[in-house]
Amino acid sequence: MSSSEPPAPEVDWETLTAAATEAMRAAYAPYSRFPVGAAALTDDGRIVTGCNVENASYGLTLCAECTLVGQLRLGGGGRIAAFACVDAAGGVLMPCGRCRQLLYEFRAPGMVLLTVSGVRTMDEVLPDAFGPQNLQN
Ligand code: THU
Repeated sequence: MSSSEPPAPEVDWETLTAAATEAMRAAYAPYSRFPVGAAALTDDGRIVTGCNVENASYGLTLCAECTLVGQLRLGGGGRIAAFACVDAAGGVLMPCGRCRQLLYEFRAPGMVLLTVSGVRTMDEVLPDAFGPQNLQN
């Protein structure tokens, strides 16, 4: 790690995964039958969760990360220090490409994600991201 990178946050991944699994039970996924739960640790220590919410108009499906960022804003805002996403069995699931972008918007410096290949940084799962910094000026 280079000295310019912020230190990785201390994360209780078991607790975060349990929160994601609990959220997964609230999923509305009658079309895909693929319930998803997501949980984020905020930079001020809160846990925020989300679940996927599908629609008869299939393309309108909200991923678990969509409802999570809504909950983040509704719960007082803040930034995401750590993130985990699970499937119906509680297994680690990668956020889809669109949702990596959603999470990127609200990342705390040094944000980490639980992935199928271990704990990785936001920059590793979405390198050279487009973001708010591109809209300056
Ligand atoms: N899904 C999520 O909720 N998050 C992801 O990052 C991947 C996919 C949901 C969308 C849909 O309801 C179901 O998984 C199957 O694609």
